[in-house]
Amino acid sequence: MCGIVGGVTNQNITPLLLEGLKQLEYRGYDSSGLLVLSNNNSFLRARSVGKVHNLEKNLNTRKKRIKGNIGIAHTRWATHGEPSNRNAHPHISNNTVGVVHNGIIENYLELKESQSKQGYKFTSDTDTEVIAHAIEFNMQSSNTFLESVQKAINSFEGAYGLGIISSKHPDTIIAARKGSPLVIGVGKYGNYIASDQIALLPITRKFIFLEEGDIAELKLEKITIYNQNGNKVNRPIKTSKIKEGQVDLGVHKHFMQKEIFEQPQAIRDTLESRITKESVVVSAFGYKASEVFKNVKQVQIIACGTSFNAGLVAKYWLEDIAKIPCNVEIASEYRYRNPIILDRTLFVTISQSGETADTLQALKTAKEINNKIDTLCICNSAESSITRESEFTFLTHAGPEIGVASTKAFTTQLVALALLTCSIGVSKKNINKQNEKSIVDGLKRLPGLINETLLQESQIKKLAVRFKDKNSALFLGRGTMHAIAMEGALKLKEISYIHAEAYPAGELKHGPIALIDESMPVIAIAPNDELLSKLKSNLQEVKTRGSQMIVFEDKESKVKSMKAMKIISITSNLGRITAPIIFTIPLQLLSYHVALIKNTDVDKPRNLAKSVTVE
Ligand code: M6R
Repeated sequence: MCGIVGGVTNQNITPLLLEGLKQLEYRGYDSSGLLVLSNNNSFLRARSVGKVHNLEKNLNTRKKRIKGNIGIAHTRWATHGEPSNRNAHPHISNNTVGVVHNGIIENYLELKESQSKQGYKFTSDTDTEVIAHAIEFNMQSSNTFLESVQKAINSFEGAYGLGIISSKHPDTIIAARKGSPLVIGVGKYGNYIASDQIALLPITRKFIFLEEGDIAELKLEKITIYNQNGNKVNRPIKTSKIKEGQVDLGVHKHFMQKEIFEQPQAIRDTLESRITKESVVVSAFGYKASEVFKNVKQVQIIACGTSFNAGLVAKYWLEDIAKIPCNVEIASEYRYRNPIILDRTLFVTISQSGETADTLQALKTAKEINNKIDTLCICNSAESSITRESEFTFLTHAGPEIGVASTKAFTTQLVALALLTCSIGVSKKNINKQNEKSIVDGLKRLPGLINETLLQESQIKKLAVRFKDKNSALFLGRGTMHAIAMEGALKLKEISYIHAEAYPAGELKHGPIALIDESMPVIAIAPNDELLSKLKSNLQEVKTRGSQMIVFEDKESKVKSMKAMKIISITSNLGRITAPIIFTIPLQLLSYHVALIKNTDVDKPRNLAKSVTVE
């Protein structure tokens, strides 16, 4: 979640660190800092709260310039300890070891206690500071810098991407990763590290991607990498084709297709540092989130389009799992209807762009009506009007979404909302340890499950032909799957221009069944849940009206095959949280392939804009 950059070079490292931090700002930050080893081997550190720009100002106004050939830098998003100068990275131990860290050290309180007994004085409230002290402590009994890091790392539980320098080893930077990404940049004038290659693109195109458990020792002209067993390994140098500030299609035909296939990684990125082995990191929603969540009485969700559909799924989760009342409303309605907003409401806006005019205005209106409410936005854009207007921000790390039809933004919003559900439930003691762990386990399975589901693309492509001459389609689901059916219908409408409607399957008899005949394809989502038998009866009702049907089911759902019905078994053992996310994937693929057949402008469908900044 935080950003790391560092390097050893024969030039002044400070401007490179600053530029790298600016490139990482898209991941969100509340403070930043850098640490450089001066030419007389003493540490020079600068830290500032707020934007990287504040750090730059801080550097420019110093009498003594921060200059040197080796350094590390960091943008922080507070989880352990408030956003402040003292909590900003890098952290230093005994003027000897400096550390930047991405991730969470889960056993930091234990380590802190024993280090305090060893005489270490703590100057921050972070989990990171124990890393610096542990390395410093192990230096006393180690032959090399590397050995001290290896020994220290053995005492850590949790996740880390680390950049470490030492005043005793002025020619070396050590990088280590477990659970958090870290890449090495191989440059002409030095070697570098970063949590994302984007930070190093202005300097190099050559990258080495560290693997889980790797530790690397970087010197000016040499990089040595050790695997988790301490054995020297060769990792390949890859040349990046990413152009600065530009997102390219890679092997894909359209951005929408690319973004559908990016979902496993987007979800991994969104989960990073937000979960531990068995729990959610409530403070990922904000330093004071736990206190707010404990006291909150109801949740009001506001959004538009796809983001609204994500909110609808969350209503089921929040009420069913976190046991808190939740309302979801379209922003353009909410902003004009003088709503009653009770005290202790958590007002949640969901927006990919963070610029949707209606959502922004609904938020402003809500704050005017009741200025005591707490506001949280779930957003994919760190620097946006809605994040600026909100008290708490949770960034989905979907990466840039170019296709107008939202795909990875939606599934990462669902992940964020699952984390919110769990965080509120845990804070209110409505979710016990065991349930929390099972939610976390489910979230961890998501990237693999999505990859499995994406393998069905060729089957789904064949089905798309059925829509060639169709003018309408009906999507059916029950529970959270009604919201997923709405998202499926929205996707089909947006990019194939086929009229599509979604209905809760139980509502069929109350009207829409009159529409069903051979010319109206019906797409049903049939997870193996407590509503399955009811859905199966609804499918019978549809079938007798002669419709062509497509059913996406769980392998255990065992929907009975009928004439003109195609059943696609997606995957198995889905839970309340994983099922809606996984069943979204075949619907995205279906609309994408229908749009190809219809030969529409998939990434820029007619009449639509990516970000709706006007009413
Ligand atoms: O940026 P936002 O999430 O606030 O945008 C909301 C809608 O405009 C957006 O989700 C729209 O419905 C998409 N085109 C759906 O694919």
